[in-house]
Amino acid sequence: MARYYRLWWTLIATLAVTFGLLGYFGNEVYREAPPIPGAVVSEDGAVIMTRDSILDGQTAWQSVGGMQLGSVWGHGAYQAPDWTADWLHRELVAWLELASRDVYGRDYSQLSGAEQNSLQYELTQAYRTNGYDAATDTLMLSPRRLEAIYQTADYYSRLFGGAPELRGTRDSYAMKELVLPNAERRERLTEFFFWTAWAAATERPGSAATYTNNWPHEPLIKNVPTAENVVWSIVSVVLLIAGIGGLVWAWSFMRGEDEKEPEAPARDPLSRFQLTPSQKALGKYLFLVVALFTFQVFLGGFTAHYTVEGQSFYGIETSKWFPYTLVRTWHIQSALFWIATGFLAAGLFLAPIINGGKDPKYQKLGVDVLFWALIVVVVGSFVGNYLAIAQIMPAEWNFWLGHQGYEYVDLGRLWQIGKFTGIVLWLGLMMRGIVPALMQPGDKHLLALFTASVVAIGFFYGAGFFYGERTHISVMEYWRWWIVHLWVEGFFEVFATAALAFIFSSMGLVSKRMATIAALASASLFMLGGVPGTFHHLYFSGTTTPVMAVGATFSALEVVPLIVLGHEAWEHWKLQHRAPWMDQMKWPLYFFVAVAFWNMLGAGVLGFSINPPIALYYIQGLNTTATHAHAALFGVYGFLALGFTILVLRYIRPQMAFDEKLMKWGFRCLNGGLVLMLFTSLLPVGIIQFVASASEGLWYARSESFMQSDLLQTLRWVRTIGDIVFIVGALAVSWQVVKGLFNIGDTRSHQPTEALAKGAGASMAPVLESGNSAMSPAVSMNSEQEDSICCGSCGGQGH
Ligand code: HEM
Ligand SMILES: [Fe+2]
Repeated sequence: MARYYRLWWTLIATLAVTFGLLGYFGNEVYREAPPIPGAVVSEDGAVIMTRDSILDGQTAWQSVGGMQLGSVWGHGAYQAPDWTADWLHRELVAWLELASRDVYGRDYSQLSGAEQNSLQYELTQAYRTNGYDAATDTLMLSPRRLEAIYQTADYYSRLFGGAPELRGTRDSYAMKELVLPNAERRERLTEFFFWTAWAAATERPGSAATYTNNWPHEPLIKNVPTAENVVWSIVSVVLLIAGIGGLVWAWSFMRGEDEKEPEAPARDPLSRFQLTPSQKALGKYLFLVVALFTFQVFLGGFTAHYTVEGQSFYGIETSKWFPYTLVRTWHIQSALFWIATGFLAAGLFLAPIINGGKDPKYQKLGVDVLFWALIVVVVGSFVGNYLAIAQIMPAEWNFWLGHQGYEYVDLGRLWQIGKFTGIVLWLGLMMRGIVPALMQPGDKHLLALFTASVVAIGFFYGAGFFYGERTHISVMEYWRWWIVHLWVEGFFEVFATAALAFIFSSMGLVSKRMATIAALASASLFMLGGVPGTFHHLYFSGTTTPVMAVGATFSALEVVPLIVLGHEAWEHWKLQHRAPWMDQMKWPLYFFVAVAFWNMLGAGVLGFSINPPIALYYIQGLNTTATHAHAALFGVYGFLALGFTILVLRYIRPQMAFDEKLMKWGFRCLNGGLVLMLFTSLLPVGIIQFVASASEGLWYARSESFMQSDLLQTLRWVRTIGDIVFIVGALAVSWQVVKGLFNIGDTRSHQPTEALAKGAGASMAPVLESGNSAMSPAVSMNSEQEDSICCGSCGGQGH
């Protein structure tokens, strides 16, 4: 017990320190965010734009799908340009051209090297010098710069406004023909893009780096990595190595003697409970998981196809109705929805078990209400996305009902509130099962950790309400990553570890004490790196150097526990041989092993490859991020949600046996398809872009001419192979779930499970040795119960 308390105190201290850092530097994000000038004026005092008009531009950008069409400050989609880098480069080139004619009377390309250098020097001075006057809250621009801005704005207005001469470019960018029909809003949009480029080019007062730490790479104005960027990158690599070394030492010297694994019970303790009405009601959740999963993977293939054909799908002009921006939004949103649904289902399945095998009052009603609420949010938010991107939604409703424009929280605010309410309802349903169990005597530490992760997942979604439609983008980014990053690199990791430890110890397969110690220790490790690691998303989002330093160092530590997950995978793998009845758990186990593998490769290795500031400086917004995002988000949480889904399926359809062939192909194709997608297409494209970004600048790595080169076009085509293999895997697993749910075909178990039958009358195993006496009535089963939760050996016909 003393060991537990030490670990709890370590976790609490870790949380206090890390959230202290996140809060302290969050305050700095607010204070040091690049100013949006009250007025941008010409030298003769004319007001060119205002803070309000720039923010109107931000809302116009959100309404067309924002980050789902190109990116701003490196955050968003990858096919169209990064608008910040693209705008900046176009404006700089226009400035040089104007200066060349003013000074030399010739085109810039006709100047000698020395003349070009001299103009570039002037350009650098003009752009890096901060013209913002805090006292008057104005930014003054020279006539030449204003002319360069007008030229760039004119191009942008034509691009977003459907000008026929730019149709080919829109095709290359996977933009639909008329993105923003309203000319006035297009003008505002250009002001917002200008402002993001201004902040990226202008030095922060008292510093030699721009507001975005010299990002994006733009040699024309000496936007190159800062010295701090290089230093903290090296520090992060050293820390990672030291962290892994330290972990191995600590693990070897401090973990003490492993307890002997407990004797596996003769029969699966979880299947000794009679299914409760709320558990039986979970079938529809499982169906929703695979329905959304299938929808999502087809949309993924569709979205990827737009990167080669721009506006059509094999010749059919689909972008008129379902443009890239929309299908990409739905692709990401449906992923988040089905993964969340898988987690909700797993939690709701466990709640009555934790409660001693019975439903709290009205639990089934709650489960049903939550399901329909989820459907409303999914359908409502998808329709809202459609109406926004089609520009049918009135501008003033967009943020609330249409499209927030922020990747991963794209859904309108009302739907976001709906989702939060749903999560809180889920929390309530979970707590009704958990709290009575926590009150019982016995070792409740693992349950407490599981509970804490569930509560954190629920409440941290609320961070999304700390910004609004017109919030400064740096501040918005800070809170957006509170949700996305703290979920996936913090609480979800703890939830996954605690949930699996809880399930396996409840099955009597692993020592509860060892599982608790391991889960508590890894929770501290995850949170230590994960919480301040949030700042790795904000290196270049208008923050100062210390934010970058904290982000780089702590996020390196995040990788430490992930790299050694092979051990955990092995432990899970072994479980299939612990008891004969574990045969039936083989497939969920395989999925959990895949979770550990992709945590190591997708999150750990591919995550770290883009993580040091010097790496992300060049590759933020390139396909290297897509590589990591697919490997980590699907690889870890996709497999986890699918593993939970088939695990719950196995219990709520006790007579079902997995179709070996289907599952084998499903599992192989999901993994194989992902590997193909990553290593034959996304990563090679990313690496080639990396070289282009490092040599010419980010604008070039995302430019039309570069992205449309034969090699990159071919590599994007190659992705089709991996996508198809993956889709086959998704269909196989989804079909298995549908077959199991609806008893289609011969899904009954025919396995010769002599031992299972033998175990049928065995005494009560240490089910949830939580000491919950309330479970006893459910445990003394009658023959009817025996049938309804048959072990599977008799095909559900009774023993
Ligand atoms: C299972 C855990 C993880 C998941 C699910 C995950 C997922 C993601 C996703 C979805 C993105 C956003 C991609 C985009 O902007 O489109 C992202 C970005 C990023 N991730 Fe992870 N990640 C995980 C772990 C890690 C780890 C351990 C690291 C390294 C320490 C890491 C480093 C990064 C960085 C630096 C970015 C920013 C890339 C950019 O802005 O271009 N991630 N991750
Ligand atoms: Fe992150």
